[in-house]
Amino acid sequence: AGGPWEECFQAAVQLALRAGQIIRKALAEEKRVSTKTSAADLVTETDRLVEDLIISELRKRFPSHRFIAEEAAASGAKCVLTPSPTWIIDPIDGTCNFVHRFPTVAVSIGFAVRQELEFGVIHHCTEERLYTGRRGQGAFCNGQRLRVSGETELSRALVLTEIGPKRDPATLRLFLSNMERLLHGRAHGVRVIGSSTLALCHLASGAADAYYQFGLHCWDLAAATVIVREAGGIVMDTSGGPLDLMSCRVVAAGTREMAILIAQALQTINCGRDDEK
Ligand code: IPD
Repeated sequence: AGGPWEECFQAAVQLALRAGQIIRKALAEEKRVSTKTSAADLVTETDRLVEDLIISELRKRFPSHRFIAEEAAASGAKCVLTPSPTWIIDPIDGTCNFVHRFPTVAVSIGFAVRQELEFGVIHHCTEERLYTGRRGQGAFCNGQRLRVSGETELSRALVLTEIGPKRDPATLRLFLSNMERLLHGRAHGVRVIGSSTLALCHLASGAADAYYQFGLHCWDLAAATVIVREAGGIVMDTSGGPLDLMSCRVVAAGTREMAILIAQALQTINCGRDDEK
C-alpha cells in the first residue's frame, strides 16, 4: 500500500462506495430515462447526480486535477488526456441494466498521471464488490487478490463483448459477424452482460478468458485497464498494437496469445475517437 497517490486512491474508494449506495437505492425507484447518441444510449438523473457528486467532492480535495467524465462529455466537454493528474469517471456503467434493474451495474473511477494509468476503482454496486487495481501493486476484489486465467486456446475460451450504442445495420452486421467468427473458432461461449467495466473485472478475476469491444469509451476502459493488467492480463488495441485509451476499441485477455488470436479474428468496426468528438 502507500505510494504517491495514496490519498487520491482512498478518495476514489470512498466515493465509489458512496455512489454505489445512491445507485442501489435508485435502482428500486421509478426512473426518468433520456437518450443520447442513439435509442439504446441511455442516461438517467442518477447518472448525472452521481457524476456531479464524485466530481465536486474530488475537485474540493484536488483543485488542480482534471476530469474526463461520461455525462460531461455527453454535454460537449472535450476528452483530452493531458499530463496533468486526470480522473476518468463513469458514474453508472451499465445504465441500460440500471434502467431495467438487471443487476450488473458499476461505478468506475480511473486515475492517470503523465498519461499513464495509476489506479482504477470499480464498484459492482448490485453485488457490493469493490474491484481495485494500482500500478505495480496488484488487483483485488474485496481484498482478495485477482488473477487472470492462463488460457491460450480459443477453442477453450469464454469470451465477453458488448454491443455498444451504435445500432445501424452495417454496424450490427459486423458485430454479429465478429461473434460468428469466434464461435466458428469454437470458443466455448460469447457473453454480453451490459457493462464493459464489469466484463473486464470478470476477465481480471479469471471468470472469462477474453474481452473485446468496438464503440466503448475511455471512461469504460480507464479503471478496468489497470485492474486487468495488475491481475496479469493484457489490454491492447484491436489491431494488435498498444492500447489507445481514446480509440473506442479494445481487446483484452489473460494471455498475449489469446489477445492476438481474438484480434486476428475480428473485423474492425469504425466508431471514431473520444478525443475527436
Ligand atoms: C456502456 C455499457 C455498455 C457498453 C457501452 C458503454 P454506460 O456504458 O458499458 O455495455 O456496450 O460501450 O458505453 O453508457 O452504461 O455507462
